[in-house]
Amino acid sequence: MRVETQLGDFGPPRDERELAAVADIMMQSYAMSPADSAAWVQRTSRPDLRLLREGGEVAATLVLIRMGQWYGGRSVPVIGVGGVGVSPVHRGRGAATRLMRHLLREARATGAPLSVLYPATQPLYRRVGYEHAGTRQEIRVQIPSLDFSERTLSLRPIEEKDTQAIVLSYQRHARHRPGWLDRGDFSWGRVRNLRGEVAHGYLVEGSAGVEGYLYVIRRPLKDFKQELFLSDIVAHTPAAARRILSFLGDHRSLATDVSWHGGVDDPLLLLLREQTYSVKLYMHWMVRVLDVASALEARGWPEGLSGTLQLDLEDDLFPENQGRFVLEVADGQARVRRGGDGGLRLHVRELAPLYTGHLSAESLRAMGALQGDDASVRAAGSLFAGAPPSLRDMF
Ligand SMILES: CC(C)(COP(=O)(O)OP(=O)(O)OC[C@H]1O[C@@H](n2cnc3c(N)ncnc32)[C@H](O)[C@@H]1OP(=O)(O)O)[C@@H](O)C(=O)NCCC(=O)NCCS
Repeated sequence: MRVETQLGDFGPPRDERELAAVADIMMQSYAMSPADSAAWVQRTSRPDLRLLREGGEVAATLVLIRMGQWYGGRSVPVIGVGGVGVSPVHRGRGAATRLMRHLLREARATGAPLSVLYPATQPLYRRVGYEHAGTRQEIRVQIPSLDFSERTLSLRPIEEKDTQAIVLSYQRHARHRPGWLDRGDFSWGRVRNLRGEVAHGYLVEGSAGVEGYLYVIRRPLKDFKQELFLSDIVAHTPAAARRILSFLGDHRSLATDVSWHGGVDDPLLLLLREQTYSVKLYMHWMVRVLDVASALEARGWPEGLSGTLQLDLEDDLFPENQGRFVLEVADGQARVRRGGDGGLRLHVRELAPLYTGHLSAESLRAMGALQGDDASVRAAGSLFAGAPPSLRDMF
Protein backbone atom coordinates (compact mmCIF):
# COMPACT_ATOMS: atom_id res chain seq x y z
CA MET A 1 0.00 0.00 0.00
CA ARG A 2 1.24 3.47 -0.87
CA VAL A 3 2.18 5.71 2.06
CA GLU A 4 0.69 9.15 1.56
CA THR A 5 2.95 12.03 2.44
CA GLN A 6 1.51 15.22 3.90
CA LEU A 7 3.78 17.61 1.96
CA GLY A 8 0.85 18.99 0.01
CA ASP A 9 -0.54 22.45 0.53
CA PHE A 10 -4.11 22.98 -0.66
CA GLY A 11 -6.01 26.14 -1.59
CA PRO A 12 -6.89 28.63 -4.35
CA PRO A 13 -4.09 30.06 -6.51
CA ARG A 14 -2.09 32.76 -4.73
CA ASP A 15 -0.69 34.68 -7.68
CA GLU A 16 -0.29 34.93 -11.45
CA ARG A 17 2.58 32.42 -11.40
CA GLU A 18 0.30 29.77 -9.89
CA LEU A 19 -2.48 30.63 -12.35
CA ALA A 20 -0.02 30.10 -15.20
CA ALA A 21 0.86 26.71 -13.67
CA VAL A 22 -2.85 25.79 -13.67
CA ALA A 23 -3.10 26.70 -17.36
CA ASP A 24 -0.04 24.54 -18.06
CA ILE A 25 -1.51 21.53 -16.19
CA MET A 26 -4.82 21.92 -18.04
CA MET A 27 -3.01 22.13 -21.39
CA GLN A 28 -1.03 18.95 -20.69
CA SER A 29 -3.86 17.03 -19.00
CA TYR A 30 -6.62 17.70 -21.54
CA ALA A 31 -4.55 18.17 -24.73
CA MET A 32 -5.67 21.81 -24.94
CA SER A 33 -4.01 24.45 -27.09
CA PRO A 34 -2.19 27.23 -25.18
CA ALA A 35 -4.99 29.64 -26.16
CA ASP A 36 -7.73 27.26 -24.96
CA SER A 37 -6.07 26.55 -21.63
CA ALA A 38 -5.48 30.28 -21.03
CA ALA A 39 -9.14 30.96 -21.90
CA TRP A 40 -10.24 28.15 -19.57
CA VAL A 41 -8.35 29.71 -16.67
CA GLN A 42 -9.77 33.15 -17.53
CA ARG A 43 -13.33 31.78 -17.60
CA THR A 44 -12.99 29.88 -14.34
CA SER A 45 -13.58 32.03 -11.32
CA ARG A 46 -10.32 32.18 -9.36
CA PRO A 47 -11.91 31.48 -5.94
CA ASP A 48 -13.25 28.19 -7.35
CA LEU A 49 -9.84 26.83 -8.40
CA ARG A 50 -7.97 24.58 -5.99
CA LEU A 51 -4.31 23.61 -6.11
CA LEU A 52 -2.18 21.03 -4.46
CA ARG A 53 1.39 22.27 -3.97
CA GLU A 54 4.28 19.90 -3.53
CA GLY A 55 7.82 21.11 -2.83
CA GLY A 56 6.67 24.66 -3.64
CA GLU A 57 5.37 23.68 -7.09
CA VAL A 58 1.79 23.35 -8.28
CA ALA A 59 1.34 19.58 -8.64
CA ALA A 60 -2.42 19.24 -9.21
CA THR A 61 -5.53 21.28 -9.77
CA LEU A 62 -9.32 21.11 -9.95
CA VAL A 63 -12.30 23.42 -10.07
CA LEU A 64 -15.23 23.22 -7.68
CA ILE A 65 -18.68 24.17 -8.88
CA ARG A 66 -21.35 25.13 -6.37
CA MET A 67 -24.80 24.13 -7.55
CA GLY A 68 -27.74 21.91 -6.66
CA GLN A 69 -29.12 18.57 -7.82
CA TRP A 70 -32.82 17.80 -7.74
CA TYR A 71 -33.84 14.76 -5.72
CA GLY A 72 -37.47 14.12 -4.83
CA GLY A 73 -38.45 17.59 -6.08
CA ARG A 74 -36.00 19.44 -3.80
CA SER A 75 -32.69 21.03 -4.71
CA VAL A 76 -29.88 19.46 -2.66
CA PRO A 77 -26.69 21.59 -2.51
CA VAL A 78 -23.80 19.79 -4.23
CA ILE A 79 -20.18 20.56 -4.95
CA GLY A 80 -19.43 19.59 -8.55
CA VAL A 81 -15.81 18.73 -9.32
CA GLY A 82 -14.29 19.36 -12.75
CA GLY A 83 -10.95 19.88 -14.44
CA VAL A 84 -9.03 17.43 -12.23
CA GLY A 85 -5.47 17.39 -13.54
CA VAL A 86 -2.07 16.38 -12.20
CA SER A 87 1.13 17.71 -13.73
CA PRO A 88 2.58 14.80 -15.74
CA VAL A 89 5.80 14.83 -13.70
CA HIS A 90 3.88 14.48 -10.42
CA ARG A 91 1.65 11.59 -11.50
CA GLY A 92 1.55 8.12 -9.97
CA ARG A 93 2.42 9.24 -6.45
CA GLY A 94 -0.98 9.88 -4.93
CA ALA A 95 -1.30 13.61 -5.76
CA ALA A 96 -4.82 13.26 -7.20
CA THR A 97 -5.92 11.20 -4.19
CA ARG A 98 -4.57 13.83 -1.78
CA LEU A 99 -6.14 16.64 -3.80
CA MET A 100 -9.53 14.91 -3.69
CA ARG A 101 -9.32 14.26 0.07
CA HIS A 102 -8.62 17.96 0.70
CA LEU A 103 -11.46 18.92 -1.61
CA LEU A 104 -13.91 16.60 0.15
CA ARG A 105 -13.03 17.97 3.60
CA GLU A 106 -13.56 21.52 2.33
CA ALA A 107 -16.79 20.58 0.53
CA ARG A 108 -18.24 19.01 3.66
CA ALA A 109 -17.23 22.03 5.73
CA THR A 110 -19.27 24.29 3.38
CA GLY A 111 -22.39 22.34 4.39
CA ALA A 112 -23.03 20.70 1.00
CA PRO A 113 -24.26 17.16 1.69
CA LEU A 114 -23.18 15.74 -1.71
CA SER A 115 -20.42 16.01 -4.30
CA VAL A 116 -20.80 14.97 -7.95
CA LEU A 117 -18.37 14.43 -10.86
CA TYR A 118 -17.79 12.75 -14.20
CA PRO A 119 -14.88 10.30 -13.83
CA ALA A 120 -12.16 9.78 -16.42
CA THR A 121 -10.92 6.97 -14.18
CA GLN A 122 -13.01 5.31 -11.48
CA PRO A 123 -10.56 3.78 -8.93
CA LEU A 124 -9.30 7.24 -7.95
CA TYR A 125 -12.78 8.47 -7.06
CA ARG A 126 -14.02 5.21 -5.57
CA ARG A 127 -11.05 5.29 -3.20
CA VAL A 128 -12.37 8.55 -1.71
CA GLY A 129 -16.01 7.46 -1.54
CA TYR A 130 -17.69 8.25 -4.90
CA GLU A 131 -19.79 5.66 -6.73
CA HIS A 132 -22.00 5.44 -9.85
CA ALA A 133 -25.15 7.44 -9.19
CA GLY A 134 -26.78 8.07 -12.58
CA THR A 135 -26.20 8.40 -16.30
CA ARG A 136 -25.81 11.04 -18.98
CA GLN A 137 -27.19 9.78 -22.29
CA GLU A 138 -26.75 11.17 -25.77
CA ILE A 139 -30.09 11.22 -27.60
CA ARG A 140 -29.67 11.45 -31.39
CA VAL A 141 -32.66 11.81 -33.71
CA GLN A 142 -32.68 11.64 -37.52
CA ILE A 143 -33.99 15.03 -38.61
CA PRO A 144 -35.81 13.81 -41.78
CA SER A 145 -38.03 11.71 -39.48
CA LEU A 146 -39.33 14.86 -37.75
CA ASP A 147 -42.42 15.19 -39.93
CA PHE A 148 -44.38 17.46 -37.60
CA SER A 149 -46.15 20.57 -38.80
CA GLU A 150 -47.27 22.33 -35.66
CA ARG A 151 -46.76 26.05 -36.12
CA THR A 152 -49.62 27.46 -34.04
CA LEU A 153 -47.59 28.47 -31.00
CA SER A 154 -45.23 31.40 -31.37
CA LEU A 155 -41.52 30.54 -31.61
CA ARG A 156 -39.09 33.47 -31.53
CA PRO A 157 -35.43 34.14 -30.69
CA ILE A 158 -34.69 34.38 -26.97
CA GLU A 159 -33.81 37.91 -25.85
CA GLU A 160 -32.00 39.25 -22.79
CA LYS A 161 -35.33 40.08 -21.12
CA ASP A 162 -36.37 36.39 -21.23
CA THR A 163 -33.54 35.22 -18.95
CA GLN A 164 -35.61 34.89 -15.77
CA ALA A 165 -38.51 33.16 -17.58
CA ILE A 166 -36.08 30.65 -19.09
CA VAL A 167 -34.52 29.87 -15.71
CA LEU A 168 -37.99 29.31 -14.21
CA SER A 169 -39.02 27.15 -17.15
CA TYR A 170 -35.89 25.01 -16.79
CA GLN A 171 -36.43 24.62 -13.03
CA ARG A 172 -40.03 23.57 -13.54
CA HIS A 173 -38.81 20.88 -15.96
CA ALA A 174 -35.71 19.74 -14.01
CA ARG A 175 -37.24 19.66 -10.55
CA HIS A 176 -38.93 16.32 -11.16
CA ARG A 177 -35.94 14.71 -12.88
CA PRO A 178 -33.70 13.10 -10.28
CA GLY A 179 -30.10 14.18 -10.60
CA TRP A 180 -30.69 17.18 -12.88
CA LEU A 181 -28.78 20.28 -11.94
CA ASP A 182 -30.18 23.26 -10.16
CA ARG A 183 -27.88 25.31 -12.36
CA GLY A 184 -25.62 28.13 -11.29
CA ASP A 185 -23.86 30.67 -13.54
CA PHE A 186 -21.24 28.10 -14.63
CA SER A 187 -23.83 25.71 -16.07
CA TRP A 188 -26.02 28.43 -17.61
CA GLY A 189 -22.88 29.81 -19.24
CA ARG A 190 -22.28 26.44 -20.92
CA VAL A 191 -25.88 26.29 -22.18
CA ARG A 192 -25.53 29.63 -23.98
CA ASN A 193 -21.90 29.46 -25.00
CA LEU A 194 -20.29 26.03 -25.14
CA ARG A 195 -16.50 26.43 -25.38
CA GLY A 196 -16.84 29.33 -27.80
CA GLU A 197 -19.72 27.83 -29.83
CA VAL A 198 -22.61 30.24 -29.60
CA ALA A 199 -26.02 28.70 -29.10
CA HIS A 200 -29.08 30.33 -30.70
CA GLY A 201 -31.98 30.30 -28.25
CA TYR A 202 -35.67 30.07 -29.23
CA LEU A 203 -38.66 30.51 -26.97
CA VAL A 204 -42.08 28.89 -27.45
CA GLU A 205 -45.00 30.87 -26.05
CA GLY A 206 -48.72 30.29 -25.73
CA SER A 207 -51.52 32.31 -24.16
CA ALA A 208 -50.36 31.26 -20.68
CA GLY A 209 -46.74 32.30 -21.25
CA VAL A 210 -43.59 30.23 -21.78
CA GLU A 211 -44.34 26.65 -22.86
CA GLY A 212 -40.82 25.62 -23.82
CA TYR A 213 -37.49 26.67 -25.27
CA LEU A 214 -34.35 25.31 -26.88
CA TYR A 215 -30.73 26.36 -27.52
CA VAL A 216 -29.29 25.22 -30.87
CA ILE A 217 -25.65 24.93 -31.93
CA ARG A 218 -25.25 24.26 -35.68
CA ARG A 219 -22.13 22.29 -36.58
CA PRO A 220 -20.95 22.01 -40.19
CA LEU A 221 -20.37 18.60 -41.80
CA LYS A 222 -18.96 17.70 -45.21
CA ASP A 223 -20.73 18.84 -48.43
CA PHE A 224 -22.63 21.73 -46.80
CA LYS A 225 -24.46 19.33 -44.51
CA GLN A 226 -24.78 20.12 -40.82
CA GLU A 227 -25.83 18.58 -37.54
CA LEU A 228 -27.61 20.26 -34.69
CA PHE A 229 -26.62 20.02 -31.05
CA LEU A 230 -29.09 21.26 -28.44
CA SER A 231 -27.43 22.51 -25.28
CA ASP A 232 -30.92 22.61 -23.75
CA ILE A 233 -34.46 21.65 -24.74
CA VAL A 234 -37.59 21.95 -22.60
CA ALA A 235 -41.27 21.48 -23.45
CA HIS A 236 -44.01 21.74 -20.84
CA THR A 237 -46.98 21.01 -23.11
CA PRO A 238 -47.65 18.63 -26.01
CA ALA A 239 -48.19 21.65 -28.30
CA ALA A 240 -44.79 23.10 -27.35
CA ALA A 241 -43.12 19.72 -27.87
CA ARG A 242 -44.67 19.46 -31.38
CA ARG A 243 -43.76 23.08 -32.15
CA ILE A 244 -40.12 22.41 -31.21
CA LEU A 245 -40.00 19.13 -33.16
CA SER A 246 -41.51 20.95 -36.20
CA PHE A 247 -38.88 23.67 -35.87
CA LEU A 248 -36.10 21.04 -35.81
CA GLY A 249 -37.71 19.33 -38.84
CA ASP A 250 -37.57 22.68 -40.65
CA HIS A 251 -33.77 22.18 -40.76
CA ARG A 252 -34.08 18.96 -42.80
CA SER A 253 -32.80 20.32 -46.16
CA LEU A 254 -29.23 20.42 -44.80
CA ALA A 255 -29.23 19.03 -41.26
CA THR A 256 -28.95 15.27 -40.83
CA ASP A 257 -29.17 14.67 -37.08
CA VAL A 258 -30.07 16.51 -33.91
CA SER A 259 -28.63 15.47 -30.58
CA TRP A 260 -28.98 16.52 -26.97
CA HIS A 261 -28.28 14.98 -23.57
CA GLY A 262 -30.51 13.67 -20.84
CA GLY A 263 -31.98 10.42 -19.62
CA VAL A 264 -33.02 7.26 -21.41
CA ASP A 265 -36.57 8.17 -20.34
CA ASP A 266 -36.63 11.44 -22.34
CA PRO A 267 -40.36 12.19 -22.78
CA LEU A 268 -39.95 13.81 -26.24
CA LEU A 269 -39.21 10.37 -27.72
CA LEU A 270 -42.80 9.40 -26.94
CA LEU A 271 -43.98 11.69 -29.75
CA LEU A 272 -41.88 10.15 -32.53
CA ARG A 273 -43.70 7.89 -34.98
CA GLU A 274 -40.85 5.36 -35.23
CA GLN A 275 -37.63 4.69 -33.35
CA THR A 276 -35.60 6.92 -35.65
CA TYR A 277 -33.27 7.74 -32.78
CA SER A 278 -30.48 6.25 -30.73
CA VAL A 279 -29.83 6.66 -27.03
CA LYS A 280 -26.24 6.09 -26.08
CA LEU A 281 -24.53 6.16 -22.70
CA TYR A 282 -22.17 9.09 -22.54
CA MET A 283 -20.97 8.31 -19.01
CA HIS A 284 -22.02 7.24 -15.55
CA TRP A 285 -21.61 10.15 -13.15
CA MET A 286 -20.53 9.55 -9.58
CA VAL A 287 -21.73 10.97 -6.25
CA ARG A 288 -20.00 11.15 -2.85
CA VAL A 289 -22.28 11.50 0.16
CA LEU A 290 -20.45 14.03 2.35
CA ASP A 291 -22.95 14.23 5.19
CA VAL A 292 -25.30 11.26 5.55
CA ALA A 293 -27.87 12.85 7.86
CA SER A 294 -28.19 16.15 6.00
CA ALA A 295 -28.20 14.45 2.57
CA LEU A 296 -31.17 12.29 3.57
CA GLU A 297 -32.99 15.21 5.19
CA ALA A 298 -32.32 17.67 2.34
CA ARG A 299 -33.91 15.65 -0.45
CA GLY A 300 -37.64 15.35 -1.05
CA TRP A 301 -39.58 12.11 -0.73
CA PRO A 302 -42.83 11.04 -2.41
CA GLU A 303 -45.96 12.38 -0.70
CA GLY A 304 -47.92 9.60 0.94
CA LEU A 305 -44.86 7.41 1.38
CA SER A 306 -43.81 6.52 4.88
CA GLY A 307 -41.29 4.09 6.27
CA THR A 308 -38.28 3.52 8.47
CA LEU A 309 -34.84 2.25 7.57
CA GLN A 310 -32.00 1.32 9.87
CA LEU A 311 -28.55 1.93 8.41
CA ASP A 312 -25.07 0.94 9.52
CA LEU A 313 -22.45 2.88 7.56
CA GLU A 314 -18.72 2.81 7.05
CA ASP A 315 -16.79 5.93 6.05
CA ASP A 316 -13.00 6.01 6.29
CA LEU A 317 -12.80 9.78 5.62
CA PHE A 318 -15.59 11.24 7.77
CA PRO A 319 -16.09 9.62 11.21
CA GLU A 320 -19.33 11.67 11.50
CA ASN A 321 -20.88 9.38 8.85
CA GLN A 322 -19.70 6.22 10.51
CA GLY A 323 -22.09 3.99 12.49
CA ARG A 324 -25.82 3.55 12.90
CA PHE A 325 -28.62 5.82 11.76
CA VAL A 326 -32.40 5.57 11.69
CA LEU A 327 -34.10 7.17 8.69
CA GLU A 328 -37.80 7.97 9.14
CA VAL A 329 -39.76 9.17 6.12
CA ALA A 330 -43.26 10.67 6.32
CA ASP A 331 -45.21 13.49 4.58
CA GLY A 332 -42.54 14.05 1.94
CA GLN A 333 -39.79 14.63 4.52
CA ALA A 334 -37.11 12.62 6.30
CA ARG A 335 -35.82 12.74 9.86
CA VAL A 336 -32.50 11.09 10.66
CA ARG A 337 -31.26 10.16 14.13
CA ARG A 338 -28.46 8.11 15.56
CA GLY A 339 -29.13 4.58 16.78
CA GLY A 340 -31.19 1.62 15.62
CA ASP A 341 -30.16 -1.91 14.84
CA GLY A 342 -28.33 -1.19 11.53
CA GLY A 343 -30.41 -3.60 9.42
CA LEU A 344 -28.77 -2.37 6.19
CA ARG A 345 -24.96 -2.39 6.28
CA LEU A 346 -23.00 -0.56 3.59
CA HIS A 347 -20.06 1.69 2.84
CA VAL A 348 -20.92 5.37 2.32
CA ARG A 349 -19.78 4.83 -1.30
CA GLU A 350 -22.68 2.50 -1.98
CA LEU A 351 -25.13 4.87 -0.34
CA ALA A 352 -24.72 7.08 -3.45
CA PRO A 353 -26.49 4.79 -6.00
CA LEU A 354 -29.13 3.93 -3.40
CA TYR A 355 -29.76 7.59 -2.52
CA THR A 356 -30.17 8.74 -6.12
CA GLY A 357 -32.27 5.72 -7.14
CA HIS A 358 -29.67 4.56 -9.67
CA LEU A 359 -29.52 1.05 -8.19
CA SER A 360 -31.97 -0.68 -5.88
CA ALA A 361 -30.96 -2.16 -2.53
CA GLU A 362 -31.78 -5.55 -4.07
CA SER A 363 -29.34 -5.00 -6.95
CA LEU A 364 -26.66 -3.64 -4.61
CA ARG A 365 -27.04 -6.68 -2.36
CA ALA A 366 -26.79 -9.00 -5.37
CA MET A 367 -23.41 -7.39 -6.21
CA GLY A 368 -22.19 -7.66 -2.61
CA ALA A 369 -22.29 -3.86 -2.24
CA LEU A 370 -24.53 -3.96 0.83
CA GLN A 371 -25.71 -6.52 3.37
CA GLY A 372 -29.11 -6.68 4.94
CA ASP A 373 -32.11 -8.81 5.78
CA ASP A 374 -34.99 -9.09 3.29
CA ALA A 375 -37.26 -6.72 5.22
CA SER A 376 -34.62 -3.95 5.26
CA VAL A 377 -33.82 -4.45 1.57
CA ARG A 378 -37.55 -4.26 0.71
CA ALA A 379 -37.99 -1.11 2.82
CA ALA A 380 -35.02 0.56 1.10
CA GLY A 381 -36.42 -0.58 -2.26
CA SER A 382 -39.69 1.27 -1.78
CA LEU A 383 -38.23 4.38 -0.09
CA PHE A 384 -35.61 5.06 -2.77
CA ALA A 385 -37.60 3.95 -5.84
CA GLY A 386 -38.02 6.53 -8.60
CA ALA A 387 -37.27 7.53 -12.18
CA PRO A 388 -33.72 6.70 -13.35
CA PRO A 389 -31.41 9.56 -12.34
CA SER A 390 -29.79 11.40 -15.23
CA LEU A 391 -27.98 14.60 -16.11
CA ARG A 392 -28.15 16.88 -19.11
CA ASP A 393 -25.21 19.13 -18.20
CA MET A 394 -21.51 18.37 -18.45
CA PHE A 395 -19.05 20.09 -16.13
C1 LIG B 1 -5.90 10.67 -13.67
C2 LIG B 1 -4.91 11.54 -12.89
C3 LIG B 1 -5.69 12.73 -12.27
C4 LIG B 1 -4.32 10.71 -11.76
O1 LIG B 1 -3.41 11.47 -11.02
P1 LIG B 1 -2.34 10.76 -10.03
O2 LIG B 1 -1.84 11.77 -9.08
O3 LIG B 1 -1.34 10.05 -10.83
O4 LIG B 1 -3.29 9.74 -9.29
P2 LIG B 1 -2.98 8.92 -7.96
O5 LIG B 1 -1.52 8.65 -7.87
O6 LIG B 1 -3.62 9.60 -6.80
O7 LIG B 1 -3.71 7.55 -8.29
C5 LIG B 1 -5.01 7.25 -7.87
C6 LIG B 1 -5.62 6.15 -8.74
O8 LIG B 1 -6.02 6.72 -9.97
C7 LIG B 1 -5.84 5.75 -11.01
N1 LIG B 1 -4.95 6.34 -12.00
C8 LIG B 1 -3.79 7.02 -11.77
N2 LIG B 1 -3.27 7.44 -12.92
C9 LIG B 1 -4.09 7.01 -13.89
C10 LIG B 1 -4.07 7.15 -15.29
N3 LIG B 1 -3.11 7.84 -15.92
N4 LIG B 1 -5.07 6.59 -15.99
C11 LIG B 1 -6.06 5.91 -15.37
N5 LIG B 1 -6.13 5.76 -14.04
C12 LIG B 1 -5.15 6.30 -13.31
C13 LIG B 1 -5.22 4.54 -10.41
O9 LIG B 1 -6.23 3.58 -10.14
C14 LIG B 1 -4.64 5.06 -9.12
O10 LIG B 1 -4.63 4.11 -8.10
P3 LIG B 1 -3.56 2.88 -8.08
O11 LIG B 1 -2.25 3.46 -8.52
O12 LIG B 1 -3.59 2.44 -6.69
O13 LIG B 1 -4.14 1.90 -9.03
C15 LIG B 1 -3.75 12.08 -13.79
O14 LIG B 1 -3.17 10.97 -14.45
C16 LIG B 1 -4.19 13.10 -14.82
O15 LIG B 1 -4.16 14.30 -14.56
N6 LIG B 1 -4.60 12.65 -16.02
C17 LIG B 1 -5.05 13.50 -17.12
C18 LIG B 1 -6.35 14.24 -16.80
C19 LIG B 1 -7.44 13.33 -16.26
O16 LIG B 1 -7.70 12.25 -16.74
N7 LIG B 1 -8.14 13.84 -15.21
C20 LIG B 1 -9.23 13.15 -14.57
C21 LIG B 1 -10.50 13.78 -15.06
S1 LIG B 1 -11.92 13.15 -14.22
